[in-house]
Amino acid sequence: MKLLLWPALLALSLPGLSLGTSTQDHAQAVLKFGPRVTGSAGNEQARSYLEAQFRALGYQTRRESFTYPRFDDLGSDVRAGEQLLTGNALQDSAGGEVTAPVIQVPGVGTPADFVRVDVRGKVAVVSRGQIPFIEKTRAALAAGAVGLVIVNNSAGDFRGTLGQRVEVPVLGVSPTVGAAMKDGQPVTLRVRVSQSNVQAVNLIAFKAGVGQPDVLFGAHLDSVPGAPGANDNLSGTLAVLDVARRAVGTPLSARSFFLLFDGEEDGLLGSRAFVKDSPEVVKGLKAMFNLDMVGVNVMPLSVSGEAPLVEAARRAGVEASEGTPGSSDQVPFRQAGVPTLFFHRGLDANYHQPGDTLLDPALVEQTAEAAFRIANEVLNTAPLR
Ligand code: BES
Ligand code: ZN
Repeated sequence: MKLLLWPALLALSLPGLSLGTSTQDHAQAVLKFGPRVTGSAGNEQARSYLEAQFRALGYQTRRESFTYPRFDDLGSDVRAGEQLLTGNALQDSAGGEVTAPVIQVPGVGTPADFVRVDVRGKVAVVSRGQIPFIEKTRAALAAGAVGLVIVNNSAGDFRGTLGQRVEVPVLGVSPTVGAAMKDGQPVTLRVRVSQSNVQAVNLIAFKAGVGQPDVLFGAHLDSVPGAPGANDNLSGTLAVLDVARRAVGTPLSARSFFLLFDGEEDGLLGSRAFVKDSPEVVKGLKAMFNLDMVGVNVMPLSVSGEAPLVEAARRAGVEASEGTPGSSDQVPFRQAGVPTLFFHRGLDANYHQPGDTLLDPALVEQTAEAAFRIANEVLNTAPLR
């Protein structure tokens, strides 16, 4: 009696703590592995941990591997006299080291801006904004610059993408670094980049014997470099695990796939790979639920997608709206004709930053409960196969 009472008392005395390993425990365990950049050790450690959790709940797991080339900044900087100033190589920048005088170009780097100063053989400095990075770079190249520095138009540094390989090194810097680069001063711009093949892995959890699920719950497990990814997207990952936990012993468990996608931050690559490699599974889906950034309440839970699922959500007592928002793993499924719902709580201030260390387990579990209820509503109204 005593033994049975103890955990119950503990759970009562610590609100939000459920028996067994809680969302809070999982969050602590996974965050210890560090950022989960696709192809990194932390990414694999997190997946192994979560794989074990799905198995402990009685699910089987399968891994789907895929590879893709990725541009990586290996550490880039500008040496100005005694000062070593750091920045981020823009994606698709040329690598290399150039030593040349600085020229501060007035403006954002339009062709007209470059007419006003002579940048030939120099490292040109322009402001971020108004026109795409690639256009600034083309204008700098055409004017004869040997390197380009783009200064952020708000505090701090930034990461950007050119979208096409260019022949000059292009570095993005903070306003502080930009101001430290004085006109005429010789600087050494060092951009160290590499292009390598990344190994990515999707994790699929399912009940033994389930080959054709009706519902797929997904979240991306990967994070961007330098960000612990607590809200983006350990929150969605743990919500998917919590849906799997709620489904145990109910019909839903035998009609679902639970997916942890990799490579989302490199362009939704995990969900694209799954849609491409499992066309039969995808064709048979009645719903795909994607959970991304659900651990910080920037706004109350937003659930949006196609009308029939929005109606199912409303019947399940969950507020939802019609819409087909982009920029996460529901997109490839929607493009393949699958009805989707996207669950999120808005873009928090620590998005893609080192400060993304917090998630609220209660919000994660509330999201899981909403997804669980909607899925059951979908299954109860859809004819059985
Ligand atoms: N978690 C974000 C998407 C997101 C944004 C979810 C706002 C909820 C609210 C995702 O990881 C991301 O950063 N996506 C990229 C695009 C992707 C194709 C690389 C983005 O939004 O810029
Ligand atoms: Zn995300």
